[in-house]
Amino acid sequence: MNGPTKPLLQVHDLYKAFPLSSGISLMPGRAKGPTVKAVNGVSFEVDRGQALSLVGESGCGKSTVAKLVTGLHRPDAGYVSINGTNVTELSGRRQLRPFGRRLQMVFQDPFASLNPRWRVGEIIAEPIHAFSLAASRADVSRRVEELLIQVGLSTADAGKYPHEFSGGQRQRISIARALASEPEFLVCDEPTSALDVSVQAQILNLLKDLQDRLGLGLLFISHNLAVVYHVSDLIGIMYLGRLVEFGRADEIFAQPQHPYTRLLLDTIPDLEMRGRSRAPISGEVPNPISPPDGCVFNPRCPLARDVCRTELPPMVTMPSGTSTACHAVANRWGTSEAH
Ligand SMILES: Nc1ncnc2c1ncn2[C@@H]1O[C@H](COP(=O)(O)OP(=O)(O)OP(=O)(O)O)[C@@H](O)[C@H]1O
Ligand code: SF4
Ligand SMILES: [Mg+2]
Repeated sequence: MNGPTKPLLQVHDLYKAFPLSSGISLMPGRAKGPTVKAVNGVSFEVDRGQALSLVGESGCGKSTVAKLVTGLHRPDAGYVSINGTNVTELSGRRQLRPFGRRLQMVFQDPFASLNPRWRVGEIIAEPIHAFSLAASRADVSRRVEELLIQVGLSTADAGKYPHEFSGGQRQRISIARALASEPEFLVCDEPTSALDVSVQAQILNLLKDLQDRLGLGLLFISHNLAVVYHVSDLIGIMYLGRLVEFGRADEIFAQPQHPYTRLLLDTIPDLEMRGRSRAPISGEVPNPISPPDGCVFNPRCPLARDVCRTELPPMVTMPSGTSTACHAVANRWGTSEAH
């Protein structure tokens, strides 16, 4: 139950499959060829001022969720709603524009996402012009300067080109550009994974600080649980297109329930996880073209039983508020009912 106010972001039962490359010819008479099931029934909610991190290994569907949320992909089924508006039903520039302003994305590679021929001031001013957010040239300049300072750069940087900056500084420029349209929600897809380790923490702190100060909703994508430790209010663990665990970050770090979350935490070297062994996760992620029957994690799970190979475990909400899709966890809590 959400009370009278709608969640800032609601993702409901999203599905997205991609057809395999055109090199594979379709059989005559067959409607569909093989597909990669990138996102397979993902639901979550994020409120104003909350930061959700989606975490999982490469190929589990994190970027596809980000692109579905920002409208870069259309879902095959399910919907995304912002403040109660189903944005998957919107079409045409006039309907989509206001939604685009309220939800912005910061990409992994600040080299590729900044136009090298534009000065930084022009890059940051572009959304201000596009959404008519300033009345005069002087107002635009003032706003650009304010944004540069907000992300820890100097006003003189407005006159420089992207190549004059380091990777971390370029990511600050990307963040300033994303904030220029005064969004309510920021989607950050691995925004620090292309940066040096020492710079990563600075960018993460900046994002967390901005999120707190501006009351932004944040969807943060990472393959590394350690990276999201300090920035997350909520954590969603993804595996092979599915959300297998979702809950408050402090609960998930203190009491991970799903065997996959436990294994991910065991691979973090510098978090004090009550003396558990630091074992690497064995085995390969299965092929998303033909995911395993039952629980998608069963081929790698040390706790897998017969039921795991035939029945998809439902999401069950524990008394702590963490929701987990695992037969063993549901048995431990004496229920197999999804809440
Ligand atoms: N446009 C596309 N066309 C075909 N397949 C795609 C496309 N985008 C993603 N996929 C496939 O969908 C699956 C999920 O990809 P996605 O990029 O969402 O994963 P990810 O979790 O972001 O991975 P990474 O950590 O490597 O960025 C992968 O198997 C990927 O190959
Ligand atoms: S449902 Fe079974 S295979 Fe899946 S994570 Fe739980 S115990 Fe492991
Ligand atoms: Mg990705």
